[in-house]
Amino acid sequence: MRLLLHDSFGRPLLNLRIAVTQRCNYQCTYCHREGEDAVNCVSNCAEMSVEEIVRIAKVAVDLGVTRVKLTGGEPLMRKDICQIVAGISSIFGLKDLSLTTNGSMLLGIAKDLYAAGLNRINISLATLNAQTYSRLTLGNNLDEVLAGIEVAVKAGFSPVKLNMVILKGINEQDIPNMIAYTEKLGAILQLIELDPINVSKAYYNQHHCDLKNQEDKLRQEAIIIKQRQFMHNRSIYELSNTTVEVVHPIENTDFCMHCTRLRLTSNGKLKQCLMQNDKLTDILTPIRQGISNKELEQLFIQANQQREPYNKPSDKSIYNLNSRKN
Ligand code: 5AD
Repeated sequence: MRLLLHDSFGRPLLNLRIAVTQRCNYQCTYCHREGEDAVNCVSNCAEMSVEEIVRIAKVAVDLGVTRVKLTGGEPLMRKDICQIVAGISSIFGLKDLSLTTNGSMLLGIAKDLYAAGLNRINISLATLNAQTYSRLTLGNNLDEVLAGIEVAVKAGFSPVKLNMVILKGINEQDIPNMIAYTEKLGAILQLIELDPINVSKAYYNQHHCDLKNQEDKLRQEAIIIKQRQFMHNRSIYELSNTTVEVVHPIENTDFCMHCTRLRLTSNGKLKQCLMQNDKLTDILTPIRQGISNKELEQLFIQANQQREPYNKPSDKSIYNLNSRKN
C-alpha cells in the first residue's frame, strides 16, 4: 500500500508543484515567479534534467502525491517539456498532471502535450483587452495567446483554466468579458488575488484588490457553490453556463489549513510554501552525488515534516490531527 504523509498539522501531502525552469519569454508586471529569488537565469545550466524531474516525481508519488503541476518561469521554454510530461504521466499512481503557461507558445505544442499525457492546462490571461495585455506583459501580443487557448481546448484538455490575476485600476472591469469568453470556450475562470511576492510594496498597495466583493457577487449568481477540500478549500461557483473559482490566500488561515502541497524549485529544492524561502531542502545536489531512492524519500519526509501553515490560526486544534484518508 502506498504511504500517505501528513505534516505536524495533520495536512496530507498530495500535490507537488514543480518549476521546470526560471526562464520566461514574458516579464509580467505582477509575476511572483513562484516565490523564487530573482536569478539571472539566462542559461539552463542550473535546471534539472528530464530524468531528474521524473525520478523526483516518482518518489513523490510513491509517498502519496497524486497530483503534479508543472510551472516555471515559462515551462514551454524547455525544448524537452513533452519528454518531461511523458515521463511523469506514465508514473503509476499519479491521478492528475497539469501545467501552467503564459500561452504564447501553446499553438505549436498543445496537441503534443496532450498526446504526451498532460491532463489539464492553466493559461495566464489577465485581460481580453489587447492594450491592457500589452501593458501587463510588457509588450506581448494577445492574439497569439488566444489562438493557443483555442487549440488547447480543441486538443482535449479538460478543463482548460484561465488564470486571471485581478489588479485594481487595471483589469477589474474586464471580469464580465472574461466570464463570457470562458463560457464560450467551455473553460473555467480562476479569479486570483494578487500575492505580495516579488512585486514592490508600491505596486502591491496600488493594485491589490480584495476579491471579497467579487465573491459576494458570484455567491448571488451561482447555482451551485462547492469547495475544493484538498486545494486550500477554494470556493467554486457554478454559474448558469460556466464555472468560476476564486483564489485569495492572503491573511487566510483557512487557505493554509487546507494546503496539501510541496513545491520543487527550478534548481531542485523542496520549498514548503510560495510565501517562504527559508527551510529549503536541496535534493538536486544529493541526487547528483548519487543518493538512493530510499535516501531521496527521507529528504521528502523531512521536508514534509517541516511544512507549516504560513498563516497560522491561534487555535491549533482546528487542524485535523488525525490522518485523513485520501
Ligand atoms: N499574485 C497572484 N498570482 C500570481 N500569478 C503570478 N503572479 C502572481 C501574483 N503576484 C499567477 C498567474 C499564473 C500563475 C502561475 O500564478 O496567474 O498563471
